[in-house]
Amino acid sequence: MLVEMKKIRKAFGEVVALNDVDFSIEKGRIHGLLGENGAGKTTLMNILYGYYQMDRGEITFEGQPVRIHSPQDAIRLGIGMVHQLSTLVPEFTAVENIILGTEGQKLSFSIGGQRQSIQKLCEEIGLSFPLQVKVRELPAGIKQKIEIIRALYRGARLIILDEPTTFLVESEFEQLLKSVKKLIDQGITVIFITHKIREVLKSCDIVTVLRKGNIEGQIDRTEMDREKLVKMMFIEKDIKVTESALPRVQLPPCTRSESPVLSVRDLAVEAGEKGVGVNKVSFDLYGGEILGVASVSGNGVKELVGALIHPSRVKGGDVRVKGESIRGLSTLEVFARGVFFTPEERVQEGILTEGTIKENVILGHHGEKRFLRHNLFINWEEAAKATRKTIDEYRVYTPGEDFLIKRLSGGNIQKVIIGRAFVGPICLLVTHNPTIGLDISSVEFIFQKLVDVRNHGDAVLWVNDDLDELMMLSDRIAVMHKGELKGIFQRDQFDKYQIGLAMIGA
Ligand SMILES: Nc1ncnc2c1ncn2[C@@H]1O[C@H](COP(=O)(O)OP(=O)(O)OP(=O)(O)O)[C@@H](O)[C@H]1O
Ligand SMILES: [Mg+2]
Repeated sequence: MLVEMKKIRKAFGEVVALNDVDFSIEKGRIHGLLGENGAGKTTLMNILYGYYQMDRGEITFEGQPVRIHSPQDAIRLGIGMVHQLSTLVPEFTAVENIILGTEGQKLSFSIGGQRQSIQKLCEEIGLSFPLQVKVRELPAGIKQKIEIIRALYRGARLIILDEPTTFLVESEFEQLLKSVKKLIDQGITVIFITHKIREVLKSCDIVTVLRKGNIEGQIDRTEMDREKLVKMMFIEKDIKVTESALPRVQLPPCTRSESPVLSVRDLAVEAGEKGVGVNKVSFDLYGGEILGVASVSGNGVKELVGALIHPSRVKGGDVRVKGESIRGLSTLEVFARGVFFTPEERVQEGILTEGTIKENVILGHHGEKRFLRHNLFINWEEAAKATRKTIDEYRVYTPGEDFLIKRLSGGNIQKVIIGRAFVGPICLLVTHNPTIGLDISSVEFIFQKLVDVRNHGDAVLWVNDDLDELMMLSDRIAVMHKGELKGIFQRDQFDKYQIGLAMIGA
């Protein structure tokens, strides 16, 4: 065994994240680590990486007992970790980020030489990215590649990938998998955390399932199938999965409203930091309808969605909600018209990091009458009530509404953000990659929510990177390319290949 973790226990206050967990890793394999949101996956790996200290337990590395007090200790042993959220310094280039923190290196001296060896490393395992561009300007998928190279550059023999594919589309995952297989050929071991069952089936030699801080079981490649994996993660629930390992949710026939809930006419928006702008985009979205939006990242979707929520960004054309223009309104005024929004980058854009769950749930609703006392002060009792309801309904894994949101697991933060959208009445839900980082049971729940909004006669604008998800639950799919609308597909015309072509502008 390369690593053996024995009887690992870790509690955060009253939350027992790991309850005497035994976990061993054999050399040269891709070892999947699965489990629902909050199961303890990240915590277990943070302990192995020296980021958290365990309360008790033992770790051996290549048969020797070791004490890992800090990431430096882990790196010295040859353990590298790519975290769930990027840890790169945005103002530095890829090369600077990779060299940063390597021992005994002086940044200014040997940077040229180091650049060459980084380049060589990239070529060896088939990962490529711009070395000299500030990381701030790069999309999430590339940042994850840089982090992998950084770990290798530091001499990692065991690489922990904590949800490295969250922001990757299918083809990017395939690329990453190729590189990971090259690592395996070189004798490197990989721990792979993901919620996407189809990725597990394609990549993992063995899988361990964690459940509420305990090991539920381990399963070998030869015995793996999608039903078995889902069953292991969610013993008590009966989740039906599709061919592509998505939770199966039905889209029943539904009549759409006579007039549109959202009308976009000749919309123009200036380019954001990482992409193109929006140019002359027009479409209508009706009540009783889910309009999916498909595109390759960097093609204006972020700007489109941004302009709906921040009308000051509209540079030309018009956006109407229920017939009334929203130009010139503030975000809160847009919300007051029954529009709600769940952003893609949940931590940067979605939450008050230093706030409690309660403060975050009423964020965006804080102007609503029922959350106000004397029209002026926030009525915290009402806020607490609404929050408890959200925690309950969305099965947010937490001790209570006054818990700091940043202490929740990644998936549970996402549940709070989605739940918040449904605290008040809505006529239009605008949602960007809502299922990112969610376990399959929560994905099922979110899918059902989108369908419920639609069945209730309200409208959903669903921007999503996963085409399989979009095709399962959209009534129509709009495709954006280079800031323009390339066409809208009706449900009975859905064809993955055709939509894919439109997405690349063909
Ligand atoms: N720094 C912390 N302070 C308090 N509680 C924490 C902290 N880190 C994790 N927890 C708690 O420990 C439990 C396990 O969290 P962890 O992040 O390990 O889950 P996970 O399996 O990685 O989930 P996800 O799939 O959502 O990322 C959760 O209940 C979480 O709230
Ligand atoms: Mg995690």
